[in-house]
Amino acid sequence: MMMHEFEALRRVLRDYSGAELKENTIAIVDAKLAPVLKAFRLLSIGDLTAALMRPGNDCLRQCVAEAVAVNESYFFRNRECFSYLSDVLLPRLMERRAHTRRIRIWCAACSTGQEPYSLAMLLADMSAALDGWTVEILATDFSQAALRKARDGLYTQFEVQRGLPAAKLIEYFEKPDGAWQIKPEIRRRVVFREHNLLEDCAGFGRFDVILCRNVMIYFDAALRATVLKRLAGRLEPDGYLILGAAETTTGFSRDFVRVPDNPSGVFCLDPGAAHTGEGPGPWAGRKEPMAQLRSVELDRATVDRLEAKARARGLTLAALLAEFAEAGPHAGPSNGLKRG
Ligand SMILES: C[S@@+](CC[C@H](N)C(=O)[O-])C[C@H]1O[C@@H](n2cnc3c(N)ncnc32)[C@H](O)[C@@H]1O
Repeated sequence: MMMHEFEALRRVLRDYSGAELKENTIAIVDAKLAPVLKAFRLLSIGDLTAALMRPGNDCLRQCVAEAVAVNESYFFRNRECFSYLSDVLLPRLMERRAHTRRIRIWCAACSTGQEPYSLAMLLADMSAALDGWTVEILATDFSQAALRKARDGLYTQFEVQRGLPAAKLIEYFEKPDGAWQIKPEIRRRVVFREHNLLEDCAGFGRFDVILCRNVMIYFDAALRATVLKRLAGRLEPDGYLILGAAETTTGFSRDFVRVPDNPSGVFCLDPGAAHTGEGPGPWAGRKEPMAQLRSVELDRATVDRLEAKARARGLTLAALLAEFAEAGPHAGPSNGLKRG
């Protein structure tokens, strides 16, 4: 791929999905786009970027953005966050919502469904306590392919082995034709919708809990600020925002404060801030580059090694570090990371 083609692609992706392409991922992006070239009968990346520049090519733009997006997800990702939800946040919300007996949860950027289905299983486990309650789970993603898979609820042996306790596999899955499928009663608990985080979300109403995990790591600081502002506008005043284990609002938003004593990634609205959900917010564009790396010390050789590892898996360094942070304090420091 020529540099000017990469730049054109970078602009399209930034505008369409918010993804920030890094130069060191050119080879991976090239490989990910091969099926798109084939599907649209284009002969080269040059043809593809030329086609992308033409007006009215939304379908191609969508396919390119989907092909390049990282869909990595697994059941009960960052397990402590799910325990915190079932042990602390949901009981607390049930006390506060006793008059309406209604709780609304939004999984923004739900990928292939493992995250909302983990929630649905968790709620099924709490069904005695939740008898007479309505708990909505709205799950959205901009990727139509990811949503198709999510709606089918069909997973390979490898996918169910990642993070899913055996007891849950037995209780909540069936195996009709070689693949594992979530049982209909769990699938029915989740409503899937196509939604791009770059677009307005006011129509969804307000939520008690919003999960927006492991997607903003692919956005630049200004876009994170904009998306966080929108999410603040969709949260009930006493609701919770859950980010990925290594993600933070610090440096990108003044709407949120970290919930004390939570495992990681749980925020609530700062009562002192105004949450209109409009505009990018006062911190838009203000970078705090070490926000995600605050507790990690890296030497140059380690950075080089990690970047090579991240490249090999089509991830950014931030995404790789997020995985490391998620694996917990007992996972390292085999890859050269030292916790500070
Ligand atoms: C790494 S996955 C994270 C999935 C899940 N939240 C988790 O933590 O396991 C990131 C997801 O974000 C989605 N995504 C990327 N950009 C998006 C955007 N602008 N709007 C909505 N979804 C987006 C991708 O399609 C992908 O499914």
